[in-house]
Amino acid sequence: MSEIEKIKNQFFSKLEEAKDLEKLNQIKSELFGKNGIISNQFKVLATKSDEDKKTFASELNTLKNDLQIIISKKVEKIKIEEINKKLENEKIDVTLPERSFRIGKIHPVSQVIDEISSIFSEIGFSVEEGPDVENEYNNFTALNTPKHHPARDMHDTFYLDEDKKTLLRTHTSPVQIRTMLKGKPPFKIIAPGRTYRSDSDQTHSPMFHQLEGLHIDQDISMGHLKGCLNYFIKEFFEIDKIKMRFRPSHFPFTEPSAEVDIGYEIKNDQIVIGEGNKWLEILGCGMVHPNVLKNVRVDHKKFQGYAFGIGIDRLAMLKYGINDLRAFFECDYRWLNHYGFDPLDVPTNYRGLSK
Ligand code: PHE
Repeated sequence: MSEIEKIKNQFFSKLEEAKDLEKLNQIKSELFGKNGIISNQFKVLATKSDEDKKTFASELNTLKNDLQIIISKKVEKIKIEEINKKLENEKIDVTLPERSFRIGKIHPVSQVIDEISSIFSEIGFSVEEGPDVENEYNNFTALNTPKHHPARDMHDTFYLDEDKKTLLRTHTSPVQIRTMLKGKPPFKIIAPGRTYRSDSDQTHSPMFHQLEGLHIDQDISMGHLKGCLNYFIKEFFEIDKIKMRFRPSHFPFTEPSAEVDIGYEIKNDQIVIGEGNKWLEILGCGMVHPNVLKNVRVDHKKFQGYAFGIGIDRLAMLKYGINDLRAFFECDYRWLNHYGFDPLDVPTNYRGLSK
């Protein structure tokens, strides 16, 4: 038997037995690789006498072609078999019950932040953000609250180091500092975000949300502050008339300072905002202290303005009748399902932030 015939017999049966692509590839390189059997036969061809060369060359070429055809047919066949096997295993059972799915809800706090931001953006406020981990300077010193100032103790601060240099911000007021340090007046911003104090009961949570407001320009007065807050409260609670009072207070970073109460009454076990003779505190505010402006290199003889800090969670509780603050942060899906908002349901006073 000639060498060519031997190869033919041996490899035809080898190919017959090959069951997968891996085996086929192995045979392929055995035959056609750099030192493969067929390549070597071409080297043998060169040593043949002129007479033998012709028949050897034609036999060798025929064998080469036959082997290549067998291999590519076999590859095709194995691929089809693999696809069929897959289809077989992935058969869909149309009699199975469908999988239930849940639509997510928007948390009342996120909802209220969106509502508040859209109300303020209508009157020209832009939104700023600051980090939850702050330095002591931005949170206190720059806000006219030097070391040993009693207001520092009142904040029940979570410090993150022994030197008390880094902390979890106790209010959103440091965003005032960051905004004024990085820009030039006028400023007209709001800054919603998380704040932290070591305090926990039905109306206090160690993590809560505030919204800071800051408006600095050449002739901004307490009258503007009053007008702005009056507008905001009416829009937020969707009422035409609001009873509101400014109570003198103290914050180191504002002078004069005030706390704002809104009137309410209880009717049929429900809280009604804007009427009655009961008062509810909802925010702190005042005219930004000249020392704060000096600390952020804003000319306090030329510029002045107001700032306010609103408790967001409190507003959410009031507007949507939620009575325990701690439930906000317990991540109970049933609670969220009840109090949360449908992402596609746009509330009446939501105008969209993109406007
Ligand atoms: N930062 C104050 C607080 O957390 C609130 C406030 C903000 C008061 C801005 C005045 C001006 O209590």
